[in-house]
Formats: sequence, C-alpha cells, structure tokens
Amino acid sequence: MKLTRRKWLVRSLLYGGPVCGFAYGGLIEKRRLSVTRQTLPLAARHAALDGLKIAVMGDFHHDDFGDDSLIRRAVKAINEEKVDLVCLVGDYITSDPRAMEPLCEELQHLRSRLGTFGVMGNHDCWHLTPEFLRSLDEAGVRMLINDAHEWDHFCLVGLDSIRGGRPDMPFALKKVPPDKTVLLGWHEPDTFDTVSDPRVALQLSGHTHGGQICAPFYGPVVLPPGGKKYPHGHYRRGDTSLFVTRGIGTLNIPVRFLCPPELVFLDLALG
Ligand SMILES: [Fe+2]
Repeated sequence: MKLTRRKWLVRSLLYGGPVCGFAYGGLIEKRRLSVTRQTLPLAARHAALDGLKIAVMGDFHHDDFGDDSLIRRAVKAINEEKVDLVCLVGDYITSDPRAMEPLCEELQHLRSRLGTFGVMGNHDCWHLTPEFLRSLDEAGVRMLINDAHEWDHFCLVGLDSIRGGRPDMPFALKKVPPDKTVLLGWHEPDTFDTVSDPRVALQLSGHTHGGQICAPFYGPVVLPPGGKKYPHGHYRRGDTSLFVTRGIGTLNIPVRFLCPPELVFLDLALG
C-alpha cells in the first residue's frame, strides 16, 4: 500500500508526537528543577509568621526513577537561600524503603535556621518500616506524625496521611497553645476543606505532582484521590491559606510533561 503524503503526515503526527513528548518528558523535563518563589499574604491574626521564609519539597518517590543529582541541586539551592524552615510534604518512596538510603544521603545536607521537618505520604504509610523512619531521623529530618513542634511564636503541626495513615487533627492541635499560630503539613491537599481551626495560617501539601503530565490549554490529565480539588499552587479561604507543590519525583512512569519538578520558596508577609 502506497502512503500518500497526507496520510504520511497524519501518521507522523499521530505516532511521532507522543514518542517525542515521552522522550522530552523523560530526558529533559523530568530533570529540570524549577524554582517557585511566592509571597503569601498573612491575615493580621497570624502576624507571628511575618517574615518567615520556608522551603517546601515533596513527592520524591525516590525508588521510582529517583534522581540523586536532582535532589542534590535542590538541597544546594535551599542552603544558598538561607531559609528559616524546610518542610518535606511526604511520599519519599513509592514502595521500596531501601531507596531512603540514597535519598537521605542528600537530605542530610539540608541547612536552615529552625530545621527540617517532614510529614508522611500515603506511599510512605503503605510501605513503612522502622528503617524508613530511622533513615530520616539520622538525616536530621524531624517527622511530625499527628504531632507538633513549638517555637516561641508559632507551632508546626504535621498530620498523618489521610489515604495511608491515621490522621488525628484534634489530637495534634490539642498540643498547641490556644493563642499560637499554626503551620500545618498534611500530604493530601484536599484535606484543606476539613481544616477549620482559626489558628491555622497555612497548610503545606503535595501528593498531586501537579498532575505530572499536563496537556496544553487543559492542565493535569490525571489527579489522584485526595488531590483533585487543589492540584497546585496557592489557595486561600478566609484567613487560612493552602500551598500545594508539584513535588520533585515521578510516579509510575519516569516522565513529566508541562509540569517540571518543583522546589518552592515561600515568604510569609502581612498583607
Ligand atoms: Fe501521595
């Protein structure tokens, strides 16, 4: 059968487009670290956080085509930025806890004024081992699992994953003094709808990967349960904000398209 020029062109677009997109998404975009810098306005009641600079990273999925050099570049960028606090929003692995060793080899170099804190992702809960938590602890990452860490002027609260663990918001918030402003880490962003405590100024989440594969003029092609309503970026409801990062790694296929790995720097300021 002889192909006409028109048929040849149509077939080239039909088959060549996805192949080129896959190659670009796996070889180039997956490795391209994008840095998001955003100033988040604080309500007057949360003035205690004014001036705080936070670095947010998450969704490493390091056993799922993880890239040590990408993490190394992100850690270097955070250290150069001299942030107050580093928050890791979960899904360090997909299913193999042995990947924690190379991941923590990089994370242990994180430096900030108040330290590095982490919350659990659904995949972490599904494949949790004692070694998993020990690796993070030895790397200097303080995990908050329905727990709070208190400083003079605010508290950081971390809740367990709602898809893989047992989050207990009343239990965790009971550890916070009644007049203290709260930063909240919770892996799945759609939980934002359940956060009504007025002490919470900002929730930090990941989980969605921003969709990982996005279509032009459409956005995320697929979003996971727990991450369908708030796929990426800043959302505000009254005096409380939510920020969702696209994360660093990939899940299932080693490709990102129109959705590069993300390192986030947030400046909190009265506004
Ligand atoms: Fe997740």
